[in-house]
Amino acid sequence: MIRLEGIVKTFHPGSPDAHTVFQGLNLEVGEGEFVTVIGSNGAGKSTLLNLISGKIFADAGRVFINGRDMTKLPEYRRAQYVGRIFQDPLAGTAATMTVEDNLMIAAKKGFRGLRISLNKKQRETFRNHLAHLDMGLEDRMKDNVGLLSGGQRQALTLLMMVLSRPPLILLDEHTAALDPRNAERVMDLTRIFVGDYGFTTLMVTHNMAHAIRYGSRLLMMDRGRIVLDVGGEEKAGLTVEGLVKRFSELGATASDALLLTRGGEV
Ligand SMILES: Nc1ncnc2c1ncn2[C@@H]1O[C@H](COP(=O)(O)OP(=O)(O)O)[C@@H](O)[C@H]1O
Ligand SMILES: [Mg+2]
Repeated sequence: MIRLEGIVKTFHPGSPDAHTVFQGLNLEVGEGEFVTVIGSNGAGKSTLLNLISGKIFADAGRVFINGRDMTKLPEYRRAQYVGRIFQDPLAGTAATMTVEDNLMIAAKKGFRGLRISLNKKQRETFRNHLAHLDMGLEDRMKDNVGLLSGGQRQALTLLMMVLSRPPLILLDEHTAALDPRNAERVMDLTRIFVGDYGFTTLMVTHNMAHAIRYGSRLLMMDRGRIVLDVGGEEKAGLTVEGLVKRFSELGATASDALLLTRGGEV
């Protein structure tokens, strides 16, 4: 589904600020895998997602999505393959538009050119979807999104992503700005949607308990390298304590481990 081959990326090459993030990164993610990604600050997690989405280009190496070489395709040409949610709840929705108009935009994208209109039946469908989120949004369809809470906006962003049906979803600490209760709810919805629709998923999180509890495979990154890559039974056997220990073994960046949220024992 995703294949990264020999990715090299240096920011500000040739200047005193030059910073090499990746020096030949390889990664393969299979169809339907749900990969959680943890790592110290500046490890390259967001840069990894940026390279996949086409927000930035690699200096060398190749990016394949669905078997297609997308290395040189700009972000808008990859958009039909990639759904992305950021930490900032304001980023995924249009604040000055109503809830139902936001959903309509996403649904149009999902129907890929087929004509759909915001009629009574479509509104009813949206209302049902919103009710399932259990965030009180089904009664706010005519409200501007700017009036919603962060948790509601992030749940709406998730639903919009589902309606637009990208095969691949990239989540970048998408619950980090929410209070614990809303973070848990949005994580629950994420798990349900990924399970129901089988999206191939990369989820960056600073919450080690979430990284263990969710997904089928876990990657730990450190200074542009993947230092741990576990799935299956081995992932199921991971503990927060174990991950903290792995972090400390990384030496120079051990203190970063303390910046990660332990998120409670699992
Ligand atoms: N657009 C950019 N310009 C310059 N440096 C960047 C840019 N994006 C990321 N970096 C640098 O690359 C490194 C990795 O960043 P990032 O991928 O955001 O880390 P993470 O998401 O793991 O915390 C950091 O040192 C960061 O400062
Ligand atoms: Mg980041």
